[in-house]
Amino acid sequence: MSKSKQIQSPKGMHDILPEEQKYWRYILKKSVSVIEDYGFERIDTPIVEFTDLFLRGVGENTDIVEKEMYSFKTKGGDDLSLRPEGTAGIVRSYIENGMQVRPHPVKLYYYGPMFRHDQPQAGRYRQHWQLGVETIGDASEIVDAELIFVGYKILESLGLKNYNVHLNSLGDAQSRAVYLRALKDFYKSRLKKVCGQCKSRFKSNILRMLDCKEEGCREVSKDAPPILDFLGDEAKRHFKRLIEILDECKIPYLLDQRLVRGLDYYTHTIFEFIPEPEEGKENQLALGGGGRYDRLIDMFGGPKTPAAGWALGIDRIVMALKQNEVNVPTISIKPKVFLSQLGDAAKKKSLLLFENLRKAGIEVKSSLGRDSIKSQLRIANRYGVKYTLIFGQKEALEGTIIIREMSTGIQETVLLEKVTDEMKKRLKQ
Ligand code: HAM
Repeated sequence: MSKSKQIQSPKGMHDILPEEQKYWRYILKKSVSVIEDYGFERIDTPIVEFTDLFLRGVGENTDIVEKEMYSFKTKGGDDLSLRPEGTAGIVRSYIENGMQVRPHPVKLYYYGPMFRHDQPQAGRYRQHWQLGVETIGDASEIVDAELIFVGYKILESLGLKNYNVHLNSLGDAQSRAVYLRALKDFYKSRLKKVCGQCKSRFKSNILRMLDCKEEGCREVSKDAPPILDFLGDEAKRHFKRLIEILDECKIPYLLDQRLVRGLDYYTHTIFEFIPEPEEGKENQLALGGGGRYDRLIDMFGGPKTPAAGWALGIDRIVMALKQNEVNVPTISIKPKVFLSQLGDAAKKKSLLLFENLRKAGIEVKSSLGRDSIKSQLRIANRYGVKYTLIFGQKEALEGTIIIREMSTGIQETVLLEKVTDEMKKRLKQ
């Protein structure tokens, strides 16, 4: 970078400034409390993994792996990638750490940044944050239902309304193979009408032709055969039971034949939490999505183990909270006391004094780097504190301190050792 060029964050990656943090803290606090109530335990995996993990897990022909991965060779010659998603790393960790011996299902959750080199736009970033959950070791549809239920309840608890659970099933490997053949037959005679990208998807990842956002492709795929018609008996039963449970729990869902998800590991249930379309805006970005992935663990060399999970996109949820004008509590607590100091002896003792006040639960601010009392009082005024403590050279030598009531300007000198108790007493009144 040349010296004259202004430094900036990489394209598609943004800072989360102090004034934005309240949204992130609000989402995390509320969601984690629900997730932990449902028995999920936190896990953290590295933000880089061997590239091969994503090639095999997410799928070589997916957009994520083909176009969006940040991959690099290390000085030691390893091929690594910044994680584009969390599930592959969790499954790797499950196998590597022998979690098969734990009581099943193993319920895990994670929170952290993911990286996708996509074209940045509102709600689509190159570094985005996900909060995800995975239930490993249970094939029952009640697990799918619980996951959808928990995701729905989290969004509800955040104060978000007007979104739907879009639901579909990809069936098992057998029914999928039959379906893919039917799709091939369907698109073969319509290839002239689809976009260039779909023409190559026809060869590499035909399912993704169904969720192409291009107008012409959408028009064509309207008549595509629905996957639900191709499910085998077991897949049909799984999906039917899931729907019955969702009905019972009053979770609103939409059967969405176009939903296919952009990752290859899914089997059976897939779902996304999508805001209702606004006028003039057809394609709403999903706030989260997930599904069942019964084959991923044995594909990575582990024992045959069914699993399912989802991830919420935190950046998008922050956007939705703002759009919906949800009242989010502020983080910064208004300080009640300002500690000002003057002279060398006082400055030296100020740090410990501040710590004593803080430990006593008093919300105190200071500006210890400053030397002028005038500028410190100005800052105290800006914070709107009730009291300023003035700790000067004379007071430091005498072991006293001045308490100034800001609204009246009345000052009183007290013994330094009594100041914490005195402040506690005054703030209680
Ligand atoms: P995903 O749908 O690719 O699923 O991502 C989950 C969520 O992350 C999306 O619904 C969206 O809200 C958010 N997201 C994805 N890409 C971006 C982006 N470029 N910018 C902002 N937000 C984004 C997965 O990643 C799966 N691992 C979920 C899962 C867990 N499936 C089973 N277990």
